[in-house]
Amino acid sequence: MAQEDRLFIGASRKPNDSYQRREDLLLKYGNRHGLITGATGTGKTVTLQVLAEGFSEAGVPVFCADVKGDLSGIALPGEPKDFLLKRAEAVKLEPYEFRETPTIFWDLFGEQGHPIRATISEMGPLLLSRLMNLTNAQEGVLNIAFRIADEEGLLLLDLKDLQSMLANMATRADELSARYGNVNKASVGAIQRSLLVLEQQGGANFFGEPALRIPDIMRTARDGRGMVNVLAADKLMTNPRLYSTFLLWLMSELFEQLPEVGDPDKPRLVFFFDEAHLLFNEAPKALLERIEQVVRLIRSKGVGVYFVTQNPLDVPETVLAQLGNRIQHALRAYTPRETSAVKTAADTFRPNPDFNTFQAITNLATGEALVSTLEEKGIPSMVQRTLIRPPSSRIGPLTPEERRRVMDASPVAGQYEQMIDRESAFEILQKRAGQSAQGSAPSNGGGWTLPDFGNNRNGDQRTSQPRPSNRQTVTEAAVKSVVRSVGSTLGRELVRGILGILRK
Ligand SMILES: Nc1ncnc2c1ncn2[C@@H]1O[C@H](COP(=O)(O)OP(=O)(O)OP(=O)(O)O)[C@@H](O)[C@H]1O
Ligand SMILES: [Mg+2]
Repeated sequence: MAQEDRLFIGASRKPNDSYQRREDLLLKYGNRHGLITGATGTGKTVTLQVLAEGFSEAGVPVFCADVKGDLSGIALPGEPKDFLLKRAEAVKLEPYEFRETPTIFWDLFGEQGHPIRATISEMGPLLLSRLMNLTNAQEGVLNIAFRIADEEGLLLLDLKDLQSMLANMATRADELSARYGNVNKASVGAIQRSLLVLEQQGGANFFGEPALRIPDIMRTARDGRGMVNVLAADKLMTNPRLYSTFLLWLMSELFEQLPEVGDPDKPRLVFFFDEAHLLFNEAPKALLERIEQVVRLIRSKGVGVYFVTQNPLDVPETVLAQLGNRIQHALRAYTPRETSAVKTAADTFRPNPDFNTFQAITNLATGEALVSTLEEKGIPSMVQRTLIRPPSSRIGPLTPEERRRVMDASPVAGQYEQMIDRESAFEILQKRAGQSAQGSAPSNGGGWTLPDFGNNRNGDQRTSQPRPSNRQTVTEAAVKSVVRSVGSTLGRELVRGILGILRK
């Protein structure tokens, strides 16, 4: 069944329901993004699983979130159950083999997968503001916190770094206000409280080091198949904001770190964004614009993004327009809102004279979908009623023991488990506080209200803090190359790219 340049989705049907032909997704258009939609229970997760298997088979690594735990089955072979064999026969999948897909489990809470972490500075003020739902005024203060941290060489790695940074700012609010504009103590306090909430929700595990190395989610197995990275998201979904911000961060990291590749034969990575409505819900306009931009530009980095959601209306028009490969499972159309959603969904397809798209959407069976992919020259194919192929891996969840076995055999086993706490803002600020308490602080007014380095840092030998060499000397333009070559976490906050604040 395998053909080098395409992955098998299923078989389309003639008006009389008999076999028409195989439907594929062309790998060279795999980076032209996609959309999987449909009401609950219609087959979205299995379709995601089938696509992930197909990409993996073609040597393309995949990242996906497992919202209900049922995607974890991808890591083990399926079993020849009747309904699967019947489906395989109906779509002429010959031979129908059962096998596992090479899988790495990840978990922000470090329970159902290898811990996945980001540093505060990588996350950047824009996404953190979104994560904590900050007001504009609070976001302004957070921006200043990052700026001061940059200027004073304070690494922001984990939550306590940011906490101590804010505590420090509160004590020197007047001085900072004079330099940066209003640093309102009430706003600082509000951010501190939001940080506490974040900590209680598991943020303490998530923010810190070792942070995720992007190459670790772009691995291939020894046999050449792409590794499928499955993020355990059931617990994560109880905090939709953390879930969506994290995935957005990951997408922007991919965008920042990967080189341009133009139009490759196949994607370098495919990223499935399940429950995608959470990303767009209540997102402020500025953020929506950035998302739209990242989705548009990440294509030339060879990354395909596939949104999975119930309703195509969940995705903003500007993003929807960029999703070339579409799989639409059944939708109901009882209420006017539902009807309008089905109409929207129907309108996005190139019509097929054999059937009415609107009606077809409401009549699809489970595991059946309307499919349109990009054909030669990148033109959307005429929509087809398609039975989706059955997966080769298991449908349904792994047991905890099975999951443990997969994790133990993972190529990243042991690399992220132990959290590292190196010297960063928290430790440095504590030391500074200690010094000033002992009276050994630079005698420029002393204590918190006048930092021991700031405006008069030139040649001041008394400051004991190691200062990064790439900090005051290099310009914004030069920083990028420095950061790339040095690869230091420290430099990275200066280039917080498209989703951070581009600093002048
Ligand atoms: N391609 C397929 N081949 C065989 N069976 C399928 C296929 N797609 C779906 N099914 C059957 O339908 C069931 C429901 O599918 P699935 O879990 O993918 O729905 P869903 O749209 O993800 O639902 P939810 O919105 O609740 O997450 C599966 O457990 C499986 O039994
Ligand atoms: Mg599902």
